[in-house]
Amino acid sequence: MIKYIVILLYFQQFTGSIPTQPNRLISYALPDTRPLKKALGFYEDTYLNFTELTTKYGYPSEKHTVLTEDGYLLTVFRILPKCIDKQKIPIILGHGLVDSSDSWIFTGSETGFGFILSNNCYDVWAANFRGNTYSRKHVRFDPNKDPDYWEFSFHEVGYFDLPAIIDYVLSKTAQSQAYYVGQSQGTTDFFVMASQRPEYNDKIRLSIQLAPVVWLRNLKVPGANILARESKNIKDLLYAIGFRELFAKQQVIHTIVELICQFIPQTACGTFLSLTTGYVYGSITSKNLAVSMGHLIVGASVKTLAHFGQLIVSGDFQQYDEGVEENIKKYGTIKPPKYNVSRVSSPVVLICAENDYLSSLENINVLSSRLPNLVDRYIVPELTWSHHNHLWGVRATEYVFQKILNYFDRFNA
Ligand SMILES: *[C@@H]1O[C@H](CO)[C@@H](O)[C@H](O)[C@H]1NC(C)=O
Ligand SMILES: *[C@@H]1O[C@H](CO)[C@@H](O)[C@H](O)[C@H]1NC(C)=O
Repeated sequence: MIKYIVILLYFQQFTGSIPTQPNRLISYALPDTRPLKKALGFYEDTYLNFTELTTKYGYPSEKHTVLTEDGYLLTVFRILPKCIDKQKIPIILGHGLVDSSDSWIFTGSETGFGFILSNNCYDVWAANFRGNTYSRKHVRFDPNKDPDYWEFSFHEVGYFDLPAIIDYVLSKTAQSQAYYVGQSQGTTDFFVMASQRPEYNDKIRLSIQLAPVVWLRNLKVPGANILARESKNIKDLLYAIGFRELFAKQQVIHTIVELICQFIPQTACGTFLSLTTGYVYGSITSKNLAVSMGHLIVGASVKTLAHFGQLIVSGDFQQYDEGVEENIKKYGTIKPPKYNVSRVSSPVVLICAENDYLSSLENINVLSSRLPNLVDRYIVPELTWSHHNHLWGVRATEYVFQKILNYFDRFNA
């Protein structure tokens, strides 16, 4: 079983960046594939980057670089508000696993959440967390050569990246608070930050958590439990043969997925999403599904996946288990400490879906029972709703975006 997984991962790893032992780099980077995509008639938005998308849809944007305490250089894109309203504080958007800032806008000017926020006079800051295609940079480590670059999971994203981005945005805008909207791992990162660095709760007026991934008990994803139980072995194997990064962009697999999904989006990507997240065919338009694959699968660390694997196996929301000896050194305890979400004192809205395999209502109940300042736990009233529908779904504007704007209205000064 593990052998086949490793072979599979090996092939997905034909990428620009393989840190191999010891510090040897094999490059399988694809040349620029854009001319080919144009020739094949891809939807243009599949291959446009954040800046190009905002320009195309007529929204001025800026690119900012944020330095974290531990030396990572993160790209944060800002979409300027379409109108001025002094009551409105900045909004920080936090993407999910193997995802990026693009997810908030690639569905276009009518239904892109980033654009809708700008239309409503909000100043929008779309983060890119360490390791994704926009944020593969560090002051000392080279992600293509230094394995140490990849020694992080959602813990470090929550502990270092989010606070750095919040401080940067507040300082640039001369505000004392921001809104946060996270999706999937963007919620995990937030709950790590707000429980490990509780002083940051004062800087968050309200957070909206879309498809929260915190407790991961009894996942319905086929094979998830087996993979999770094997995650230590898989990680050790991948490390031994020199892999620290998975699912990077500019790799053969990413390009093949992009290609197939242009032509048979529902059958190919739809099936992939339905197995992994509970997606129901047709609940995202074929065009958006096709375009999404140009922006999804854009890089993660092996350690992040292993950490999620540990959450599945332990059934708890806890720090990375390094093994007894290392745990004692790092945490002073045999077992890794649990994250204490009772310390998340800022107001939280959880937005959930009936058919989301990764964010089940059962697990959300565990989370909501422990949050001291829960404003609402909103379940989208649509049985087919799943993990990505919050951002890309048919009727996302009506079910989710309008709802979020209403929550903001309640919390605006
Ligand atoms: C987006 O694409 C443009 C045009 O290819 C390029 O100049 C720019 O550097 C890209 N931006 C980022 C952040 O990658
Ligand atoms: C969790 O945080 C709450 C609120 O700060 C505190 O009262 C409680 O003792 C903490 N629990 C643990 C196990 O540390």
